[in-house]
Amino acid sequence: MSTLSTALPGGTWELGDLTVTRFGYGAMQLAGPWVMGPPADHDGALAVLREAVELGITHIDTSDAYGPRVTNELIREALHPYPGPLHIATKVGATRDAQGGWPPARDPESLRRAVTENLRSLGVDTLDLVNLRLGDAEGPRPGSLAEAFGILAELQRQGLIRQLGVSNATPEQVAEARAIAPVVCVQNMYNLAHRHDDELIDELAAAGIAYVPFFPLGGFTPLQSSLLAGVAARRGGTPIAVALAWLLQRSPNILLIPGTSSVAHLRENAAGAGTELSEQDLAELDRIGRRP
Ligand SMILES: NC(=O)c1ccc[n+]([C@@H]2O[C@H](COP(=O)([O-])OP(=O)(O)OC[C@H]3O[C@@H](n4cnc5c(N)ncnc54)[C@H](OP(=O)(O)O)[C@@H]3O)[C@@H](O)[C@H]2O)c1
Repeated sequence: MSTLSTALPGGTWELGDLTVTRFGYGAMQLAGPWVMGPPADHDGALAVLREAVELGITHIDTSDAYGPRVTNELIREALHPYPGPLHIATKVGATRDAQGGWPPARDPESLRRAVTENLRSLGVDTLDLVNLRLGDAEGPRPGSLAEAFGILAELQRQGLIRQLGVSNATPEQVAEARAIAPVVCVQNMYNLAHRHDDELIDELAAAGIAYVPFFPLGGFTPLQSSLLAGVAARRGGTPIAVALAWLLQRSPNILLIPGTSSVAHLRENAAGAGTELSEQDLAELDRIGRRP
């Protein structure tokens, strides 16, 4: 049982031995445009991170590829030494090129280097949670992850990583990873309009594994739907609040990491995710993206 009490919607979840609030924060948007370079408002970025902790959020999602290094360095500047209950999840397996692309970097040397760089930029001796990011910018791609995930399992045995997850992964890759080492979460793209992982979410829930949707609000292409707008109007809230509340109510193993570079939006999202949705709301929202 968790000893952490939280007023945030959704309560808490156990990522292995890490207790986190189901309402977390995704820090990618803190870097500059298209996740390259420093933010226009450095102090504003620090304020968002401090507000996240102030609100009681204990799960921040990042990657050394954001910026690159920019987001991790902002997290360190804003929050180090980290409060005990706070857990920072990072990702390895992709790097950045001069055009802002995200080429894969999953060979053993790149993975070891990425773990070392995340340790250094976050200023910790052990990374709480490392997700192996697979696929590419278009989504998951089939193929064995055994060599790459085996490297991370080795670094975990060496004490450099506490918990492991996979990201942008196919169900087959999730199963392959679970046969190599315990997997505490899967971080894939999922939201009201993009529901390819419905079956996987239910399987993971049954196995006690978290599902962490990235782009919960549509990412660079904000969610737009007249059905969503209609439910939001009925609830007297915003479509964003309803989209987050729907995720929390979709399955108990879903953890939220919505991104924002605005303190006001962060507060709005933390409150809005607690919107109670009725059976009628859920039925209407289900029509937006459920696969036939
Ligand atoms: N594993 C992967 O491959 C992968 C890929 C992408 C992302 N991620 C992770 O997932 C996290 C979430 O994804 P994301 O941030 O890209 O997308 P997102 O959470 O779907 O959407 C973020 C966008 O929504 C806007 N927004 C947030 N709250 C708002 C509000 N209350 N009102 C109006 N606009 C609002 C933000 O703008 P403002 O800044 O103006 O609020 C931002 O443009 C990232 O931070 C990252 O940690 C992982």
